[in-house]
Amino acid sequence: MTKTQKLVLGSWKFHFIAFILLIAFVIATLFLTRDSRRFLEQQTTPNDSTPSCDLFSGKWVYDNISYPLYKEKQCSFAEDAFTCEKYGRKDLKYQKWRWQPHDCDLPRFNATALLEKLKGKKLLFVGDSLNRNQFNSMLCLIEPSIPPSTSKSLIWKGNSIIFEATEYNATIEFHWSPLLVESNCDDLVNHRVQTRIIRVKAIEKHARQWTDADILIFDSFMWWLKPKMTLLWGSFGSPDAIYKEVGMRHRRFEMALSTWADWMEFHINRNRTKLFFMGSSPFHFVGKDWGMDTGRNCYNETEPIFDEGYWGSTTDRGMMQIVESAIYELETRGLKVDYLNITQLSDYRKDAHPSIYRRYYTSLTEEQSAKPESRSDCVHWCLPGVPDVWNVDRLLRMMMAQMASAGMRRSILRYMARGASLAAPPIVPRYGPLECNFSSTVFICASPPSTAGCPCRSYSSSHSFSSGNE
Ligand SMILES: *[C@@H]1O[C@H](CO)[C@@H](O)[C@H](O)[C@H]1NC(C)=O
Ligand SMILES: *[C@@H]1O[C@H](CO)[C@@H](O)[C@H](O)[C@H]1NC(C)=O
Ligand SMILES: *[C@@H]1O[C@H](CO)[C@@H](O)[C@H](O)[C@H]1NC(C)=O
Ligand SMILES: *[C@@H]1O[C@H](CO)[C@@H](O)[C@H](O)[C@H]1NC(C)=O
Ligand SMILES: *[C@@H]1O[C@H](CO)[C@@H](O)[C@H](O)[C@H]1NC(C)=O
Ligand SMILES: *[C@@H]1O[C@H](CO)[C@@H](O)[C@H](O)[C@H]1NC(C)=O
Ligand SMILES: *[C@@H]1O[C@H](CO)[C@@H](O)[C@H](O)[C@H]1NC(C)=O
Ligand SMILES: *[C@@H]1O[C@H](CO)[C@@H](O)[C@H](O)[C@H]1NC(C)=O
Repeated sequence: MTKTQKLVLGSWKFHFIAFILLIAFVIATLFLTRDSRRFLEQQTTPNDSTPSCDLFSGKWVYDNISYPLYKEKQCSFAEDAFTCEKYGRKDLKYQKWRWQPHDCDLPRFNATALLEKLKGKKLLFVGDSLNRNQFNSMLCLIEPSIPPSTSKSLIWKGNSIIFEATEYNATIEFHWSPLLVESNCDDLVNHRVQTRIIRVKAIEKHARQWTDADILIFDSFMWWLKPKMTLLWGSFGSPDAIYKEVGMRHRRFEMALSTWADWMEFHINRNRTKLFFMGSSPFHFVGKDWGMDTGRNCYNETEPIFDEGYWGSTTDRGMMQIVESAIYELETRGLKVDYLNITQLSDYRKDAHPSIYRRYYTSLTEEQSAKPESRSDCVHWCLPGVPDVWNVDRLLRMMMAQMASAGMRRSILRYMARGASLAAPPIVPRYGPLECNFSSTVFICASPPSTAGCPCRSYSSSHSFSSGNE
């Protein structure tokens, strides 16, 4: 009997019932999961004194022992918009904060286990530069555990950046698609346009690239915040196209998400693809929000905000609610999307943006040169940093989702109902102190001694990025 199971038993009052339940759970698991062996290895320890754990409610604690999770320098694929140390940032405290949920502990991060989890899978990030930031974080997190002899590459193709760790069959991709639907901002490199034109009803061009992903992670907020945008009915360049400039930022976002949801409903393989939507990533341009003088922003900030419940004035709850209700509505149509509520935990981190310590892809104006505040990037996040937490957290959720998928829970309950008429406390897997044990999984490493490092590295650094402030 494993340690996990002992703990479970020990903490329950009615050992006998607990034992029956446990057996039922295990048997159900064996029969009902696709991946039953792995599943058993990943069982978590339910904790009776904590009915559930909201991973997004907690605080940042300084932890210079286990953080940072990787070194910026070892991260060969990170873009220059996120490498703050390289661009002269001297205070490195921002790399050493750990997110501590109130009611449970996150498991220790284990890159090898993460890579193992991605073996044979395609993980796809879709969205704007914040998802690109997170995509970069994901690459940084796994890179140290890829043996140097393994071939890995980063390829730029169309609107995608594709990372492949060949021996693991793992593909991690990012698709630039800042508004999810089609727009005139869809070029991976050149997307700065005067007037944003959006085809709110057209998504196929992007979405056809999503269908073979095992894990799909969306984000889209920032690009909708412009006060005015032009909606397009019909195709770009078509003579009968209709253009209409509109305000109504919430309404147009709603329209686009409805196009997104309709497409998802009919094209996502529910048996294969796990879906996530990132909560909006907050920015820190208004120093007044945390008690600074007018005109101050994230520049020169070196500490998180400790005021629990802090909510920046520029975070648009309305936009978040639109996503939440789109997701809720999709669920009623039988498609589950996990919403990763990272807004508030990130909102505490005024210290974690690049501010002036990044590469700029356009030349600075006179004001920007004279006054550092005016060129501060308070949108993206330095790496190592906040997106690492989004990633670790997400993977956790993924494991939990695997175990707690509604269908399976139903099956277990049905099985139990058949087996015994127990008026049982339902076994609902919960977030608890997790210890995932992957060590009985064989870690295959073909590793023919091949070229050190990445064949596409110079290619990527010769590219000019223009993630800008969005
Ligand atoms: C359950 O969680 C509580 C609060 O976090 C903790 O004090 C307790 O030790 C945990 N119990 C077990 C069995 O892990
Ligand atoms: C971690 O931080 C503590 C307190 O700031 C300090 O005393 C200690 O030397 C630091 N340890 C390392 C390994 O940097
Ligand atoms: C990778 O995929 C190929 C083809 O699908 C398969 O033959 C091979 O065994 C896989 N390798 C690993 C390490 O999973
Ligand atoms: C998904 O799984 C269900 C039940 O396991 C099965 O009936 C269905 O055909 C599967 N769908 C696809 C697209 O594989
Ligand atoms: C930045 O912070 C340091 C230390 O807190 C302070 O001495 C300095 O004046 C600040 N710089 C600006 C431009 O506010
Ligand atoms: C997201 O988390 C915040 C607190 O961190 C909470 O107020 C809000 O209700 C949560 N939203 C959802 C949809 O769970
Ligand atoms: C993980 O499981 C293996 C075999 O199943 C066992 O030998 C090992 O001690 C376990 N590790 C931990 C940390 O529980
Ligand atoms: C991380 O996971 C790997 C593979 O699952 C395992 O061999 C290793 O012991 C783990 N490391 C830690 C520190 O738990």
